[in-house]
Amino acid sequence: MSQVLVASNRGPVSFSLSEDGALTMRRGGGGLVSGLAAVTGAPRDPGPPRATPDGSGAGEHDGVPDVLWVCAALGDADRKAARRSPDGRLDQAGYGTGGAAVRMLDIPAATFHRAYNAVANSTLWFVHHLLYDTPRSPHFDARARRDWQSYEAYNAAFADALARDAAPGAKAAVQDYHLSLAPRMLRDRRPDLRIVHFSHTPWAPPEYFRLLPDDIGERILRGILGADHAGFLTERWASAFLDCCAALLPGARVDRAARTVTCGGHTTRVGVHGLGIDGPALRRRAAQQDVVDRARALREQVGDRQLIVRIDRTELSKNIVRGLAAYRELLVDHPEWRGRVVHLAFAYPSRYDLPEYREYTAAVERTAKQITEEFGTPSWDPLILQVNDDYPRSLAAYGLADVLLVNPIRDGMNLVAKEGPVLSRQGCALVLSREAGAAAELADGALLVNPYDVSQTAETLHQALLMPRDQRAERCARLAAAATALPPQRWFADQLAALD
Ligand code: G6P
Repeated sequence: MSQVLVASNRGPVSFSLSEDGALTMRRGGGGLVSGLAAVTGAPRDPGPPRATPDGSGAGEHDGVPDVLWVCAALGDADRKAARRSPDGRLDQAGYGTGGAAVRMLDIPAATFHRAYNAVANSTLWFVHHLLYDTPRSPHFDARARRDWQSYEAYNAAFADALARDAAPGAKAAVQDYHLSLAPRMLRDRRPDLRIVHFSHTPWAPPEYFRLLPDDIGERILRGILGADHAGFLTERWASAFLDCCAALLPGARVDRAARTVTCGGHTTRVGVHGLGIDGPALRRRAAQQDVVDRARALREQVGDRQLIVRIDRTELSKNIVRGLAAYRELLVDHPEWRGRVVHLAFAYPSRYDLPEYREYTAAVERTAKQITEEFGTPSWDPLILQVNDDYPRSLAAYGLADVLLVNPIRDGMNLVAKEGPVLSRQGCALVLSREAGAAAELADGALLVNPYDVSQTAETLHQALLMPRDQRAERCARLAAAATALPPQRWFADQLAALD
């Protein structure tokens, strides 16, 4: 029985299966896992792949002990690992989860696939990031209803696991859009628990949220309102949630001043909890030899040219294609930069089961190739695109960047915008989308752009490259201070404290 439980789709570790049938464990990716790993004692450092089980810890941690982290098995290898563990408890099977107690739920593959791919990532993610366009518009038919039932079953599996493992009066922190029904389901099963739901994404405004079928939209809002506290990364997303409740939930009473929603006799408080970087831990990681080696190799590759760096999942909302187009426009409008700048774009694979993501990856690669063909010379590679995930290489690139480009269409927070300034050696200029949650905290220091305005982004890259070094360093120091002001430990403690 645990006093504090965390639930999220992606857990702190996941597994792959090698040809000889051995399981290899890796750290989970994404901002949610980075933030939570810091507070739960799970490994936040991918380190070298680890053959398991070996009974040893992995990575450094200074997390809160006694948190149980409930997550889903994401694929066959995870399912295998979960089945080999007593009750799905990876830590008890000697998998070396860094001390964190982890229960991995073995949800049937078809149910998981529909809940994760069809509902969470194809529908709810699209709604909250305003990603629908004409070729990919919502189409809620009988098949979508079946997918929705799987989403309900998936949420129920989490509610069951939490209800079973929670000590009387325990606190449960349910994370993100995959689990928007779980808070209500958990309250129905265990009214004694104190429940927080936290959204790591933006929240859609009512006129966009209402694209969802009415009953489904209502159930999502009611699901989150099963929590005592609903947390968001910025004021903007919290207000959008209140707006949706006021506009679309019959019978709900929204008190904007107090930031509460009362529905069916239960009141949920809505709060804003920014998520920042654990500066000392990140700097310690970046000082390790694998990062130093990669920094040396990158420097040799690009020479003394200025570096524009971007690091993202290959994700539709990250707006990589427009970012590359802006770089191209920079080289056209300001030919003086040709041969004097290199764009390093790390776009590591994500959600490859979805056709939109596969097509997007192809579009990124195509655009990069065109730029290389148009401007490249025997002595100058204008663009280096890397599509494999290499965490130490990303940390090395942060250290070397002169300009960091973060231009999402819309983003809950964006931790790249915060990690870069913290690790920058000589001070980098940050070109940041005004639609990223991080813009609310980093406006003083960043150069803000409209992510759809390619020409403005190109011109801002030009200004960033021209910025005198001392001004860059001074701005970067301010950005790093803002980025580390709310470390994950505090973000999580605030969520739990909101339940007292
Ligand atoms: C975002 C979401 C997280 C998710 C991450 C990676 O940050 O808010 O919940 O884990 O993306 O996406 P994935 O689908 O690979 O878990």
